[in-house]
Amino acid sequence: MSFLALDNIKKSFGQTQVVKDFNMSIEKGEFVSFLGPSGCGKTTVLRMIAGFESPSDGTISINGKNQNRLKTNQRNIGMVFQAYALFPNMTVFDNVAFGLKVAGKPKEEIETRVKEMLALIRLDHLADRYPYQMSGGQQQRVALARALAPKPQVLLLDEPLSALDAKIRVSLREEIRQIQRQLGITTVFVTHDQEEALSISDRIVVMNAGRAEQIGTPSEIYNRPNTRFVASFVGTLNIIEATVVDPSANTVKVGDNTVRLREPVGALKVGDKISIALRPEAGSLSESAKGDTAIVGNVISSHFLGSVIRTKMDVGGNQISFDMFNAPDAVLPQPGEVLTLRFSSGDFLIVRD
Ligand SMILES: Nc1ncnc2c1ncn2[C@@H]1O[C@H](COP(=O)(O)OP(=O)(O)O)[C@@H](O)[C@H]1O
Ligand SMILES: [Mg+2]
Repeated sequence: MSFLALDNIKKSFGQTQVVKDFNMSIEKGEFVSFLGPSGCGKTTVLRMIAGFESPSDGTISINGKNQNRLKTNQRNIGMVFQAYALFPNMTVFDNVAFGLKVAGKPKEEIETRVKEMLALIRLDHLADRYPYQMSGGQQQRVALARALAPKPQVLLLDEPLSALDAKIRVSLREEIRQIQRQLGITTVFVTHDQEEALSISDRIVVMNAGRAEQIGTPSEIYNRPNTRFVASFVGTLNIIEATVVDPSANTVKVGDNTVRLREPVGALKVGDKISIALRPEAGSLSESAKGDTAIVGNVISSHFLGSVIRTKMDVGGNQISFDMFNAPDAVLPQPGEVLTLRFSSGDFLIVRD
């Protein structure tokens, strides 16, 4: 049985429905990310789980118990927000102790638990500091400790890293994941950053306009996107228009190239249009255009991005970007150059709307 279940959740503000029939089952100890563009309803779903908003329809249950009528403080949920929401006039110790004090825990128990939490986030030496005396990353670790101190049954994190700079963001996301695993706490992590979601989640919910568009492991979401939206939002992707050549052989035409797809084209007929997604990292340069997985194109531009060289080429009106790893003697393809890229048939993903 799932631990946190959202069934047919809807939410309207006035006339506008911002969450539309949202369904999700999260297992105990699972780390699930809600990934989607700004305004798609991520925070609203999180706030409903926490009890800051009530759903217009549907049920939220935790450990088999319906939460709809419970107030926030009856749900035993820990939450961390984007902005450092620490109490500015309290020390680190008192911030972490806050929830335990409110719950009326005895002094010794509070002391022990706060020390345990500060050790967990490796800030035991800064217990007497005030928030303004700490970096953004340290403040977010304190916010995490404060959320975890009362042993919540669910941890909710709403873009907790987006105010931090790139390096800290990466190290802190790994630390959050490691602490989450260590405690085995069921966690929902909201982000608009696909790399962040891909790197730390057990499963990802890709959200679009108030709906869960696809739910899957990072590898499923990245390698087998179900819809055009998921394909283009998760990863840098080429979406190219092809024409069906022979439905029984799964062959399609891209520019002047006939390529064979592994996935069946389904009920399409000769001459029908079909959208194909191709990851930029999928192809590799080839000397020969023979076979049914090669694509020949004209280079439009090429950019050195550090670890990779990204080249854009024109293939019969489609633009295809592809990446090559950097090497000390790498030569950038020149505009106008004709190049052949070779793929494997499984690299061509059929995109459905
Ligand atoms: N209290 C509210 N009243 C009216 N509209 C709201 C309220 N909260 C959120 N919205 C709207 O709901 C939509 C989803 O918002 P939100 O859940 O914050 O998105 P996200 O977190 O994915 O960026 C947005 O269009 C936002 O303007
Ligand atoms: Mg939000």
